[in-house]
Amino acid sequence: MVSDKVSIHGAWASRWVFILAATGSAVGLGNIWKFPYMTGMYGGGAFVIMYLLCIFLVGLPIMLAETLIGRRGRQSPVNALGALALESGASPRWSWAALMGMIAALLILSFYSVIAGWSLDYIMGMGAGQFEGISAEGAGGAFGALTADPWRLTLWHTLFMLLTGFVIARGVVAGLERSLRVMMPLLFVLLLVLLGYSMTTGHFMQGFHFLFDFQPDRLLDGVLAALGHAFFTLSVGVGSIMVYGAYMPKRASIGSTVLAVGILDTLVALTAGLALFPIVFAAGMEPGAGPGLMFVTLPVAFGNIALGQAMGTLFFVLVLIAAWTSSISMLEPAVAYLVERTRRSRVLITSVLALLCWLVGMGTVLSFNVGAEAKFFVFAVDGFHLFQWGAEGGRNFFDSIDYLTSRILLPAGGLAFVLFAGWVLKREAVREELAIDNPLLFGLVYWLIRVVAPLGILVVFVAELMK
Ligand code: TRP
Repeated sequence: MVSDKVSIHGAWASRWVFILAATGSAVGLGNIWKFPYMTGMYGGGAFVIMYLLCIFLVGLPIMLAETLIGRRGRQSPVNALGALALESGASPRWSWAALMGMIAALLILSFYSVIAGWSLDYIMGMGAGQFEGISAEGAGGAFGALTADPWRLTLWHTLFMLLTGFVIARGVVAGLERSLRVMMPLLFVLLLVLLGYSMTTGHFMQGFHFLFDFQPDRLLDGVLAALGHAFFTLSVGVGSIMVYGAYMPKRASIGSTVLAVGILDTLVALTAGLALFPIVFAAGMEPGAGPGLMFVTLPVAFGNIALGQAMGTLFFVLVLIAAWTSSISMLEPAVAYLVERTRRSRVLITSVLALLCWLVGMGTVLSFNVGAEAKFFVFAVDGFHLFQWGAEGGRNFFDSIDYLTSRILLPAGGLAFVLFAGWVLKREAVREELAIDNPLLFGLVYWLIRVVAPLGILVVFVAELMK
């Protein structure tokens, strides 16, 4: 029987709202900032193919697993896993995986907020015409000046964390659902405006070929990066999608819903690439710029083409909205859990957690300037140091948190969730929730969850740790 329980936090009005929410979570800096520059770095079309394979073979099975666990459990990830484990006669310690995921999500939020804050700075700068006719050195200098200034970074980080906390504090229906209904359509419209604009630059086909021309010799270059990115872009592995699943109406088919989210996320990433590369080419620049693509190359591009300032401002508004609808999904699992556990008010718990994330985020703020030399996890000739000032090698605070979350906690969480859905939950329970009628198709999806996805995760995990 499909569970009739509802979550104490409320429920989405329909499966469409779940699609909006999960797509809002998935579409973020990962799609607009990371995907285009990774495609630039790993050879265009070859990377796109690997990325698509990873999304469908590993990413979507995890998303299915998370959604069905959430909806069946109807509680925050920690309590959902605990309850379902007991029901299936397994150890309640499975809930530790969700606890770890919840902490990972808060850690991701701590630095995501700092980077998302940069888009606020760029909205102001572009809007004020500061990038008009700027040179590459000028844009590099402007970016350097921003990251070198802890006060300016703190201002935007604070503002972005407040925006995130504000939506979460208002609750599932009045906060999340209401704002998603406005922000997601706006996001799609902005993206289409930018795409339309890039078609007028006269370099559209150059961007198209860059993105889709297939170079077989580069196929293996970016496999690991593609798999890691599939996790990040779909927001899986920490319980963000699981908590959204808990608010999903009981009769909706999870199979087709999750497929829609995966396809939308991929379309946005590809459209962002199609919109951005022609603009980069039109300004006579190279697309292989790495992480600086969005904050250095694009401002130069926007600063040197017709209508660039207006389009550039719109672009950074798009980035802000995409990041905002993602950051709320990082805070929700922990807020839901602590509300269930302490029965204190949502506003209080949101404030405490947002403050905590803000404090940890200050470590990231300082990593770009005064704290750049504070290194953690240093392997030196005289042995291992947890912390050493100015060490060769090692990672600064931001790099450490990024590494810990994306290389270790995300894959570990994803593995736990997919194993739980595939091997702990009863086959019948999974069949009921997924609601895939065709037995052959169900068999295929179940096999992806049980075997293919876990093996895929193990491969990246081991390969990454050995690097
Ligand atoms: N998917 C988002 C992006 O592409 C980021 C994100 C949101 C995320 N929630 C997450 C990443 C949870 C990992 C885990 O930017």
